[in-house]
Amino acid sequence: MPSIASTSQIAPLASASKPLPLTTSTEGLQAIADKHITKGLGRLRDHVFKEGKGLRVLTTDNRKLLDFTSGIGVTSLGHAHPDVTAAIIAQAQSIIHVQCAIGLSEPYVQLVESLLTMMPDPSLDSFFFWNSGSEAIEAAIKVSRTKTKRNNIIVMQGGYHGRTSGAAALTRSKTSFFKGTGPLMPCVYTTPFPYWHAMGLPKETSEDVLVEQAILGLDNLLQQQTAPEDTAAIFLEPVIGEGGYVPTPHKYIKYLREICDKYGIILVVDEIQTGFCRTGKTFAIEHSNVKPDLMVFAKGFANGMPISGIVTRSEIMSCMQPGSLGGTYSGNVVACAAALATTRYMRTHDILGHVNERSEQIFKGLREIQADTENGGWMIEEVRGQGLMIAIEFKDPNSKLTRNHTRGEQVKLPGNINKLVQDECYDRNLLTLTTSIYPVLRLIPALILSSDEIDEMLSIMKESIKQVAKNIQGK
Ligand SMILES: Cc1ncc(COP(=O)(O)O)c(C=O)c1O
Repeated sequence: MPSIASTSQIAPLASASKPLPLTTSTEGLQAIADKHITKGLGRLRDHVFKEGKGLRVLTTDNRKLLDFTSGIGVTSLGHAHPDVTAAIIAQAQSIIHVQCAIGLSEPYVQLVESLLTMMPDPSLDSFFFWNSGSEAIEAAIKVSRTKTKRNNIIVMQGGYHGRTSGAAALTRSKTSFFKGTGPLMPCVYTTPFPYWHAMGLPKETSEDVLVEQAILGLDNLLQQQTAPEDTAAIFLEPVIGEGGYVPTPHKYIKYLREICDKYGIILVVDEIQTGFCRTGKTFAIEHSNVKPDLMVFAKGFANGMPISGIVTRSEIMSCMQPGSLGGTYSGNVVACAAALATTRYMRTHDILGHVNERSEQIFKGLREIQADTENGGWMIEEVRGQGLMIAIEFKDPNSKLTRNHTRGEQVKLPGNINKLVQDECYDRNLLTLTTSIYPVLRLIPALILSSDEIDEMLSIMKESIKQVAKNIQGK
């Protein structure tokens, strides 16, 4: 194989002998961030991450945190997984950017080969890679509209699809993602999602009733607001993420499939958070045995490198004209190499068995905490989720459905128990996330976590919940 070498001969500036004195102290970094980085970013804390290995993160002020966020479902094999890191280094030393409109690269095409073996259905055989989840959602909108020659899109109440303009227009989990930025992309319609709290129904409501209500809402929508013949796509998260970690009932997914088949609507399944073994199947949609027409993925399949994608049937993708999809960094070769290493690991290890076992352990532990009513369990309304997407919904004084509790009228509930528990966890060096407009705390750890790490998390969670309950009860 012929070798190539760089012939760069640019002389360094004389001033380069005095390098820019870059800041390293925690306080200094925080001060610069405070002054020069947009306030539009919400941040859990102003801590500065320095190092990450597995589920451990080290901050510049030497705090060692147990990470149950995995950067919102991204570092699925843990921080700095050796196989992925090695693949990134090797690729960066070989070629670092292959622009997709200029040429192909080995990792890009091999990633397609790897992904083809993981698809929930062999009909999903035509890919496009982009960088972020939101961008992939934009691509899904474009393909659905181009294929069907229809404009309208149906989304779920509480659904989240991202923050870029089109993706934000599809988002229904919180107004903060688009407040004050309208008009958003038109032609988006919202259908009820079968989640008891969002439907204003008691938690004990049977799944059948919730699904019936959701079906009624969708049927009405298709008769009153968007005719099936005008509807390009229905977007669905198999487990609503930013909407509160609520798995979609299979009966409802099957109904969506029927409606899409009947009217030629494209069923777009957003697996950005749920995909790549997160829920105990390679893709969460597999729990329902429903075939998506188009699937969107990102996050967990490159273990930290920014890459996303869509996949659909060739027959659908073939509507796209050359140049209609693309982007400078689309399918970056280093990100592809990282994704190839991550998916290789997933294909060659019993990661699904591991996720299911660890999931059971977490659910069992959290339900024990919930049952321990003397130590704060009374504040918990529900423990739910799927695989390693697990949430605790706490009681809420602002909700007529969840404000009742067993501690007597003198005990006044705050409206943010999830955040109070999150703070207590943080004080004990456990990183967690909140989600949705309800007081929900969520756990989305790396898939490779150990039983001991779960025990450690449960012990911190137990203490934290106990402490918050004590504070609320004033004792
Ligand atoms: C289900 C879902 N869709 C879309 C997105 C947007 O992805 P990104 O933040 O990479 O743009 C996310 C991100 O959290 C998500 O969870």
